[in-house]
Amino acid sequence: MPSDQRTILVTSALPYANGSIHLGHMLEYIQTDIWVRFQKQSGHRCIYVCADDAHGTAIMLRAETMNQTPEALIADVKREHEADFAGFQIGFDHYSSTHTEANRHYAELIYTRVRDAGGIAVKTISQLYDPEKQLFLADRYVKGGCPQCGADDQYGDNCEACGATYQAAELKDPKSTLSGATPILKDSEHLFFELGQHTEFLRQWTRSGRLQPEVANKLTEWIDGGLRSWDISRDAPYFGFEVPDHPGTYFYVWLDAPIGYMGAFQEWCDANQFDFDSVWSADSDAEVYHFIGKDIVNFHCLFWPAMLHQAQFRTPTGVNVHGFVTVDGRKMSKSRGTFIKARTYLDQLDPEYLRYYFATKLSARVEDIDLSLEDFVQKVNSDLVGKLVNIASRTAGFITKRFDGQLGPELAHPELIDRIRAQAPAIQAAYEAREFAKATREIMTLADEVNAWIADEAPWTLAKSDDTVAQVQPICTTALNAFRLLTLYLKPVLPSLAERVGEFLNVSSLDYDTLDDTLLNHSISPFKALMTRLEMSDVEAMIQPTEDVVEVKAAPAGEPLEAECTLDDFTKVDLRVARIQAAESVEGADKLLKLTLDLGTETRTVFSGIKHAYDPDQLIGRHTVMIANLAPRKMKFGVSEGMVLAAGPGGTEIYLLEADSGAQPGQRIR
Ligand code: MSP
Ligand code: ZN
Repeated sequence: MPSDQRTILVTSALPYANGSIHLGHMLEYIQTDIWVRFQKQSGHRCIYVCADDAHGTAIMLRAETMNQTPEALIADVKREHEADFAGFQIGFDHYSSTHTEANRHYAELIYTRVRDAGGIAVKTISQLYDPEKQLFLADRYVKGGCPQCGADDQYGDNCEACGATYQAAELKDPKSTLSGATPILKDSEHLFFELGQHTEFLRQWTRSGRLQPEVANKLTEWIDGGLRSWDISRDAPYFGFEVPDHPGTYFYVWLDAPIGYMGAFQEWCDANQFDFDSVWSADSDAEVYHFIGKDIVNFHCLFWPAMLHQAQFRTPTGVNVHGFVTVDGRKMSKSRGTFIKARTYLDQLDPEYLRYYFATKLSARVEDIDLSLEDFVQKVNSDLVGKLVNIASRTAGFITKRFDGQLGPELAHPELIDRIRAQAPAIQAAYEAREFAKATREIMTLADEVNAWIADEAPWTLAKSDDTVAQVQPICTTALNAFRLLTLYLKPVLPSLAERVGEFLNVSSLDYDTLDDTLLNHSISPFKALMTRLEMSDVEAMIQPTEDVVEVKAAPAGEPLEAECTLDDFTKVDLRVARIQAAESVEGADKLLKLTLDLGTETRTVFSGIKHAYDPDQLIGRHTVMIANLAPRKMKFGVSEGMVLAAGPGGTEIYLLEADSGAQPGQRIR
């Protein structure tokens, strides 16, 4: 074991067990995974754990609607999440749940230690209670005006407009989102973590070089504004851990969620005979990093270090905060259909395209990251196919056909290889600092240099004449050695490409301890396509199912429901009968039909993804139900002024109303 080997525990935020993983989440897991793979590749002992965040009212209510136990529901969701993560090659060493005995142990331990150190206050509080649902309202189930900035329609825990955190009862004009009822106030006993006791500790912790400057600045603002006690308990009924000395009271989901990092790590320790305390004791010299999104900074940089500190555990070495994913410049949104689920992506595209694209955009700053679909296609094709793989695809054939699969005894251009190798420290430093955009840029600059050199040497010309063919072997040997090094540099981003390259080059490792290797007199396998071009039409195929077609399908068991909508929400949707006046195919879109819909008083153009179910001619004269007041949406092929509703199992079985349905165009459906 090298003496400079570090021990590093890494976590990503624990995804809620009440929804599917989408591409916004994937930014975080990809960012973390690249960093972890880089550490492992560099020879460090790096352990990456994560878990589903399984507790809380949302899960409890959802299980209730689905006639399931919360335990069964979270088990289904966990399977789905794990499959999504595996699809994107997220290499967790262990993936757990917050609903485990290990986590209960640490939740109780931390609570008890904090309590014994005088860090917990017990207070009777008045809370919003839904008299119809007979439930104390968790923050998510109350909406009203932000007490700080006044923004409307904010949830009960924090304000999306100004970032303030507060108690739900402070909201202006609150409403229960479960029933629409105006909540009443009801008393119960709650436990509070006295955050204010830790003001000085946090002030210093925030400034101890563990945080990005913009995060530290934000925290200083919060600390200066005064730290308030934090309510860490919830009343029954609640899906979570009961507080040991307060029967009928449960730990709030955000209390045991970060502790879930410890629970998951303990399980990993048990399976690997590893000493938990060597990482978590207050004097540990192991490193601990949490990767999180900018929306959960207060939980990770205030409550969490303060509790750990008071419970005599170490605090994180760093909390690495990233921004949010936008799609084509706009916030991901369900109503706009840009919440692309991980599974939808995986059904259509190679995960490494997205891993690479996110890498080219990631820095150590808390900036939002735009997934621009055209840029995505262009970048993947130009860098990975056009630059990287091109080096091998234009040189490997000569080695196989002319030199019996053998690389030569010497390089044509050793300085080129030296130069690529000399970039290792800069590239490693960029990965270490989470400057993945910089790392990939430097790697692609090297790839450009290699390609330009190959073009100058033109082995394809030299191979044509018996006099010059001997020069081809050292040229291709140089190119393939360059290719090996560039692949090594990209391995954290593209693990399965690196594996295919390893097989092609007959090398068992592409870790940094092989950096100085040169492949000479070495036999390689015949070249097979390593990566295919990404087509815009494939990307569109991924967008269309959520953007253009709302197929009502039989939900597979366990698929989480959308957030509940009230009758008020529903009556906002103006459903009208429409007669299909014209229907035509849309050039360049395999799923879309352009429909002209007669609403009695006006006509509308609507693009609808039902081409696989209907020939355009069959549709003319038929009736359909449309959402007539959907905001017009600009699509690639024109503006869509509404949406057609259809239901069925999908594919060719999507049903519209018949022509003789008896309904009148323009008629409203209620
Ligand atoms: N369960 C909490 C975290 C508990 S950690 C002890 C949670 N879950 S989450 O599913 O909502 O989010 C998981 C992570 O994904 C968070 O770090 C969050 O910031 C991140 N993202 C969720 N949507 C995102 C984008 N659209 N873009 C980038 N990251 C996003 O929060
Ligand atoms: Zn606000």
